[in-house]
Amino acid sequence: ACAWQARAQTPADGALQQIRARGELRVGLEAGYMPFEMRDKRGGIIGFDVDMAKLMARKLGVKLTIVNTQWDGIIPALLTAKFDVLMSGMTITEERAQQVDFADPYIVIGQSVIMQAKLADTVKSVDDLNDPRYVIATKLGTTGDLAAAEYLPKAQLMKFETEAEALLQVRGGRAAAFVYDLPYNAVYVARNPGQLVLLPKPFTREELGWAIRKNDPEWRAWLNEFLAGVRQDKAYDALYGKWFER
Ligand code: ARG
Repeated sequence: ACAWQARAQTPADGALQQIRARGELRVGLEAGYMPFEMRDKRGGIIGFDVDMAKLMARKLGVKLTIVNTQWDGIIPALLTAKFDVLMSGMTITEERAQQVDFADPYIVIGQSVIMQAKLADTVKSVDDLNDPRYVIATKLGTTGDLAAAEYLPKAQLMKFETEAEALLQVRGGRAAAFVYDLPYNAVYVARNPGQLVLLPKPFTREELGWAIRKNDPEWRAWLNEFLAGVRQDKAYDALYGKWFER
């Protein structure tokens, strides 16, 4: 295509142009989802997604601003341009893809179960929890919430705004188990040994992706190229090793 055509196809308000014009990349996430985005001891937000966002900003040659946003309103916040890209361990689902566009998947995870240690002899897989006598805690509006409804229709489901609240129910004996993404659950059990046990085999397969507003092919293409680049030059592997293999 000739130059004027290429320019004509570029929307004047594409995110990439806005980022370059303002000299700042705004990344939306909800801190509290280990090891992707979580608080360090001083209250700063760290994790795999945060480090990836830093690489992204460096590549763009702009400064990075993290916009911490409740999970509950995170897609509306993207749609109303509170940030340029949502990097928050979001599973690519058909339902979400009606509202947002996803870049290529950046990691594959699955749902898993954390339960009271005393259940270890009776509960060997998620199916063993599909019983009205069990209360299952999940996080509202997540794929853990969807998976619990699908795999545990007979159990009593309780939904919470944050992972921490849901797990308090299990620790306090008010819920038998918590259904959630395996990376989070693995870190949680490693940090809180004793009362809780993890069923380490994931029972779903989910791809996580960065979400952007629809109809911005230029920004989406940039993100996909960036992702391919960090996979190629091993920057991805370095971050993976730092956050998932220690
Ligand atoms: N992968 C799950 C989902 O998409 C949970 C992601 C939660 N992320 C977060 N930053 N709290 O529903």
